[in-house]
Amino acid sequence: MNESFFYRGGTLWCEGVPLEAIAEPVGTPVYVYSVARVLRNIRRLQTAFGPLGASIHYSLKANANLALLGVINEAGVGVDAVSAGEIARARLAGIPPSRIVFAGVGKTRAELEYALDTGVGWINVESQAEMALLETLAADRRQIVTVALRLNPGVEAATHRHIATGHAGAKFGIEPEVLADILDNRAAYPHLFIAGIHVHIGSQLTRVDATLDAVRLAQELADPHSDVRTLNIGGGFPVRYDDAETLPEPAEFAEALQPVLDGWHIMIEPGRAVVADAGLLLVSVLYVKEQYGRRFVIVDGSMTELLRPALYGAEHPIIPLREPESKLVPATVVGPVCESTDVLSPSARLPRLAAGDRMAVLDVGAYGMVMASNYNMRLRPPEVLVEGRQWRVVRRRETLDDLLRLEQ
Ligand SMILES: Cc1ncc(COP(=O)(O)O)c(C=O)c1O
Repeated sequence: MNESFFYRGGTLWCEGVPLEAIAEPVGTPVYVYSVARVLRNIRRLQTAFGPLGASIHYSLKANANLALLGVINEAGVGVDAVSAGEIARARLAGIPPSRIVFAGVGKTRAELEYALDTGVGWINVESQAEMALLETLAADRRQIVTVALRLNPGVEAATHRHIATGHAGAKFGIEPEVLADILDNRAAYPHLFIAGIHVHIGSQLTRVDATLDAVRLAQELADPHSDVRTLNIGGGFPVRYDDAETLPEPAEFAEALQPVLDGWHIMIEPGRAVVADAGLLLVSVLYVKEQYGRRFVIVDGSMTELLRPALYGAEHPIIPLREPESKLVPATVVGPVCESTDVLSPSARLPRLAAGDRMAVLDVGAYGMVMASNYNMRLRPPEVLVEGRQWRVVRRRETLDDLLRLEQ
C-alpha cells in the first residue's frame, strides 16, 4: 500500500474516499485509480530523469483508460503506442502527435500509414523489412520520417522470463550486426531519418546492470554516425508488489546511466512505474468453501478482469475492505471462470470472511484492465477515478447488450 490507499476508521480508503462508498453504488468487480498516486509516480520519474534532459513517453499499453490518459497528458508526458488503436486513444486524450512514439514488432501497413498520416513524432523500427516498407510509404507521401532502430542487445534481463524482451531468443528488435548494416546503408532510406536507437530489454527489471550493458552496446553501434544521438531506453522500472522486496528506484537507473550519457538525448517509456500501484480491483466474496484442507474464497473478480496471475504467475496482495480484527488465515482466492488457472492468489492471508464481504486486489493499475476479456461471456468491469474527495465512473460496466453489439 502507499499514501493513496490506507485504512481509516476500520475501513479502506483511496485518497479522500472510503472504498465502500464506491463499491456500494457501482458494484464489484470494479477498478479504482488514484490520480494523486499517478501524478506522484510521474513526478518521481521526472525528478530522476529530468537532470538527464530525458523526455518521458508513458507506455499506454499498461493502462489505456481515456480519463487517466488525460491526467497523464496534463502532466506533460508523451506516449509510447503499439497499435493504431493506441495512437487513436492518445490523440483522443489530447496528446499531440509529436509526443507519440509508435513501436511494435509487427506493425501492419495500414497502421504505419495511419501513423504517418497522423504525424507521430517517432517510429521505432524492428526489422529490415519494416524499414523497407516504411521507406516506401514515406516516399509515397514525400515525408521525412524520424525513426529509431530497436536493438535486440542479446542481454539477459533480471526479470520474469515472460517479460524479458532483449535476449537472443526474443522476437523483439534487431540484432547488432543487422542494425549496424542498416546504419551503414542509410542512403537506401532517403525518407527515413535514423535519429536514435531504442533498447527496451524487459519489464519489472530488478537490476540496472543489464540496462547499462544494453545502452553501451547501443552507443557503440551509433558511435560512427554522429546524427544518431538519441537513446530510447524503454521502460521496465520495477514496482514493489511485495513490501519485503528491495528493487532499484528510477533514480538508481538514472544515476547508473548518467556517466555514460553525456551528449545523448534520452527517452524513457515507463508504463508499470506510472500506474501499477495507483490502481486496485475491488471484488466481493461469493462463497467460502473448505476442500481437502484448503480454504477457497470464491470472489466475483477473476482472470477475465485480472489476467496477470494466470498469465505470469504474478502475485498481488489481497486485503479486506474492513480492517481485519480477527486472526489472518491462509486462503486461496479464486474467480468464477471455468479454468484451473483462474486463481487470483494461491496464498492470501485473510480474516474469516462471509459472502458479501469486499476485498481489494492491490497494485493492479498496470496490465490489469487492458488485458480484461469477455471470456466465459463475462462483462468487463467499470473503472473509477478518484481525485481527493471526488470520484467518478470513467468507464461503465459492460452490459449483456454490449456483448452482442458486434454480431449480426
Ligand atoms: C517497447 C516497450 N516500452 C515500454 C514498455 C513498458 O514497460 P514497463 O511497463 O515495464 O515500464 C514496454 C512493455 O512491455 C515495451 O514493450
